[in-house]
Amino acid sequence: MSTWVKENCVSFFQLFCIKVVKTGRIPQHLAFIMDGNRRYAKKNSVDSAAGHVKGFDKLSETLKWCLDLGIPEVTVYAFSIENFKRSKEEVDALMNLARDKFQRLLEEIDQINEWGVRIHVAGRLSLLPEDLRALVSKAMLATRHNYKLRLNIAYAYTGRDEISRAASHLVDGVKNNEISPEDIDVDLVSRTLELGEAELLVRTSGEVRLSDFMLWQVANTNTVIYFTDVLWPEFSIWNLLSAIIHFQRHAPAPKALPSISDTKREFLDKLESQRWQQMEKIVSCS
Ligand code: FPP
Ligand code: MG
Repeated sequence: MSTWVKENCVSFFQLFCIKVVKTGRIPQHLAFIMDGNRRYAKKNSVDSAAGHVKGFDKLSETLKWCLDLGIPEVTVYAFSIENFKRSKEEVDALMNLARDKFQRLLEEIDQINEWGVRIHVAGRLSLLPEDLRALVSKAMLATRHNYKLRLNIAYAYTGRDEISRAASHLVDGVKNNEISPEDIDVDLVSRTLELGEAELLVRTSGEVRLSDFMLWQVANTNTVIYFTDVLWPEFSIWNLLSAIIHFQRHAPAPKALPSISDTKREFLDKLESQRWQQMEKIVSCS
């Protein structure tokens, strides 16, 4: 049984409903603020760590639904830089959960590859404990050729931090004469960020805030936002299908990405290959 993609969680009737919803437009990039794990824990008289474990189980179920729906890119907010301010006990529990799940992913790599899931961990990885940084780098390298579903896990992440990291890459690009200051425009900033624009953003648990998640990527004319009161561990396929139907009713026509100059393309390719080199270095030093 795969840890990351829950099998056998879709009934015939649910599959039928998925097929009906698929006759309409499906978001090409779906983002989740998975909120409400601790309230779920409190409601069920368990500790917050157990709430987060339930949260991960819900993620693996959601990934199966997204694969069935043919959604090619999913981004989840799994740990904000702000979350480091939570109690040591809770931060340690979340780090241990991540250690356990990424370890399992590497052990079950054949199954993950069969599902075609590519993992990308987006965030300031230097804030993570060294062993976890090595594990997530290994997971990214081991899944880099999968193409069915790209799962971006925002970890040690905030949107403003992502924008500041992109700004420093752009400054370096100018300093090294790879790009000129005139090259810096909205499109280049977008492409320098780790995460692409989301077409649908879902936040659970009744909170109606963005909490510093994908700020640049949702501040455009395309992204549809869906708030639901359900706590993340209780999120069901019906909640997901409701969100997609909401998207189908409200999404504007998709826009094509503008074309890009050779200079900018080379700068972005170099940045991408530096990211891979960094990951390989982290893994080889571990
Ligand atoms: C928000 O609920 C949830 C988090 C801060 C953590 C989310 C993490 C997971 C679902 C596990 C993901 C793990 C991996 C390895 C991808 P909350 O704690 O803010 O709950 P509350 O709003 O009820 O207080
Ligand atoms: Mg919360």
